Amino acid sequence: MKKLIAELISAELPELSLEDIEKSIENPPKPELGDFAFPCFRLAKVMHKAPNLIAGELAEKIKSDAIDRIDVAGAYLNFYMNKDFYLKSMIEKISQDNFGASDEGNGKTICIDYSSPNVAKNFHVGHLRTTFIGNSLYKIFDKLGYKVERINHLGDWGTQFGKLIVAYKRWGSEEAVKEKGIEELMRIYVLFHEEADKDPALEDEARAWFNKMENGDEEALKIWRWFLDISLEEFKRIYALLGMEFDHYTGESFYIDKADAVVEDLKKADLLTDSEGAKIVDLSEYDMAPCLILKKDGSTIYATRDLAAVKYRKETFDFFKCLYVTGQEQKLHFKQVFKVVELLGNEWAKDSLVHIPYGLVSLGGEKLSTRGGNVIYAEDILKEAIAKIRSTIDEKNPDLKDKDEVSRIVGVGAVIFNDLYNQRIKDVSFNWSHILSPEGETGPYVEYTYARCSSILRNASDYQFTTDIDYSVLEDQASIDLIKALNEFPNVVKSASETYEPHIVARYAIAVAQAFNKFYHDNKVLVEETDVRNARLMLVSLTRKVIKDAMDLLGIGVVEEM
Ligand code: ARG
Repeated sequence: MKKLIAELISAELPELSLEDIEKSIENPPKPELGDFAFPCFRLAKVMHKAPNLIAGELAEKIKSDAIDRIDVAGAYLNFYMNKDFYLKSMIEKISQDNFGASDEGNGKTICIDYSSPNVAKNFHVGHLRTTFIGNSLYKIFDKLGYKVERINHLGDWGTQFGKLIVAYKRWGSEEAVKEKGIEELMRIYVLFHEEADKDPALEDEARAWFNKMENGDEEALKIWRWFLDISLEEFKRIYALLGMEFDHYTGESFYIDKADAVVEDLKKADLLTDSEGAKIVDLSEYDMAPCLILKKDGSTIYATRDLAAVKYRKETFDFFKCLYVTGQEQKLHFKQVFKVVELLGNEWAKDSLVHIPYGLVSLGGEKLSTRGGNVIYAEDILKEAIAKIRSTIDEKNPDLKDKDEVSRIVGVGAVIFNDLYNQRIKDVSFNWSHILSPEGETGPYVEYTYARCSSILRNASDYQFTTDIDYSVLEDQASIDLIKALNEFPNVVKSASETYEPHIVARYAIAVAQAFNKFYHDNKVLVEETDVRNARLMLVSLTRKVIKDAMDLLGIGVVEEM
């Protein structure tokens, strides 16, 4: 509204910039003095006229449907807005299907490399964080019109597989692996390390097996593929629980036949140096440790495969940006990789490659029911959240329809919401009583608010509803504040995308839920007067829609009843 008034004044006052005018518009101290005020003192000098004369002339010239009247009070112009007009204009915008969306990303592709768990290892809480953050960024950029490639860069290659093969051959059994999956693979992997402490020759044996893998040995690859399939099955079970998907499962192994080309590029660019038999890129000029490219035995490492991945993605997707969501402990790794890409003559690396780090999960003293040992499985956490919600439902609302699905959405949603509520880099603390609380800044609080909106609308189905509504009947501050909160959605999406911070959306969802609950506390919705009832129902329906969209950007579903 301030902007609109500034534009109207600016049309009559080319002497001043629009920005300048907008800045000088004031909020009058009393409602009797109008909704906005514009002082004309400063204009006297520029226009060589008395300020009150200028105010009088301006008041005559400015005309708009948005304004009921303009009073001249000394050197001040006092604007009285047409409330119906200005509420209606906001509400019309909020009602649009694509509210919050934009086309800024049209024609541009963003690759997001996230989740990326390690094969034969448990999907742990840290992997939950990258999965939630990455998925939310996907939703946010998708909303802004970008084409997004969701890439799962599985940790499915490396010396650890040599160790696993040795361990499996010595102490493993097909039945145990079939029965216990990753748990068994973890067990024999730990055993390997214990035994290798006593007998270092095991390490050589493991290296030899990994070497066989790199050279295409069928026996080695067969075992490796089996472990990969078992792991993928478990990972996909988690993604199904979360309701999340990927466009590409291209793990590290996808790049082994693409690593030679990278080594060639590096040679051509004269970037490779020998270091005790290994090949490195010296980065001392940039105050960084060298980036290791090939080990003494010629095998590739994590960084080599990441370099191959950048090349492949640039060629395949011609990305505008490629984002990497991992824990902050990988900061140096990405700094090195991005620098090497840049040194290969790719100026775009500076702006296009972005590491998106996040903090740790601290479990505090929380007891998590997890399978043996102190290894924490993400799947167990999610299942526990679902079970806890389920038992609350069984107790409070046993006749609810679709109890399983409601528990899944609300339970998983609560864990996601807790994770995304703070800045990424902050550590996440895990506390069941907070995470699942229906009050406070939690997922369930937002879910309840959504379900309340749905229930009000169900109860309203007996009334006739028109969209031709006179919004000036909304007289209380809580109604106006709610509309203003809803109106913020597009700015929220934009700033979350600019900072890669889903928490901006999570906080917004809370702000809308709070504004709604204040509105609902202050106002009865299903009142007799048709105009008032319709205007308030409209607010309920728009709140419902915006909450649903905001939750969707976080990767969280909503339920009609809970
Ligand atoms: N698998 C790695 C981990 O669990 C994350 C991979 C991240 N992506 C990448 N392109 N390096 O820590």
